[in-house]
Amino acid sequence: MAPSIRSWRLWSLALMLATVVGEYGSAMGGGSYGYAPSSRGFQPSPWSLAHATFYGDETASETMGGACGYGNLFLNGYGTATAALSSTLFNDGYACGTCYQIKCVQSPWCFSGSPFTTVTATNLCPPNWSQDSNNGGWCNPPRTHFDMSKPAFMKIAQWKAGIVPVMYRRVPCIKPGGLRFQFQGNGYWLLVYVMNVGGGGDIASMWVKGSKTDWISMSHNWGASYQAFSSLGGQSLSFKLTSYTTRETIIAYNVAPANWNVGLTYQATVNFH
Ligand SMILES: *[C@@H]1O[C@H](CO)[C@@H](O)[C@H](O)[C@H]1NC(C)=O
Repeated sequence: MAPSIRSWRLWSLALMLATVVGEYGSAMGGGSYGYAPSSRGFQPSPWSLAHATFYGDETASETMGGACGYGNLFLNGYGTATAALSSTLFNDGYACGTCYQIKCVQSPWCFSGSPFTTVTATNLCPPNWSQDSNNGGWCNPPRTHFDMSKPAFMKIAQWKAGIVPVMYRRVPCIKPGGLRFQFQGNGYWLLVYVMNVGGGGDIASMWVKGSKTDWISMSHNWGASYQAFSSLGGQSLSFKLTSYTTRETIIAYNVAPANWNVGLTYQATVNFH
């Protein structure tokens, strides 16, 4: 892993200590389900061939604080069912939150019956050009590769295999409860990490609306974070999001109360399906 990923991990530890989940998403009542009338559910993709390895140990502590910015994966609902994607799949962070079924194939290390496991993308597996793409540089483009948590890998193959061929397909993310918004930044800059995203699991664009403002377009920062350079303190905040995969738009009204603060996580009542 690159040094920058290590510093994200330390940073996420600080976030973890400050995390509180609020429940403010239902304040607007029945009108708050902003589904587009032509909403299409996300259908699984065809199965494709890739390879899988694992990183970290059985505690999955190595997987915390990955390149999507989800911080502590246990506190934020992802648990150990996660994988780091090679940059070919990672799509500059737009693949953060996408979900995959993965099964081991064509290897004596595969568990019999080809059981599949479902993982959420929470991290980048960076290229390492000092290693051959077919001997250690498994995440070098154009390879499609899953570097899974060890507990996730152990659901499909014996860990001693190290690397196995897999079949994978994108599937809808089944996430209990509403979207989660973790706030960072300051009085003039709001940086929001969007977590627990159902359906396609990914975000194409996002807007924020303070109780005294119109909708403000947010720009993609890194991983699964979006930012607005606006003074939004003292206002309750609503969010509008469009799914990258399905283009469905959803509105989460009054997710954060007027006294919102950075370091906190606010949960909506709505989610993609
Ligand atoms: C890349 O591979 C080399 C050779 O195996 C290794 O020494 C180095 O630590 C790797 N770099 C990263 C960032 O993992």
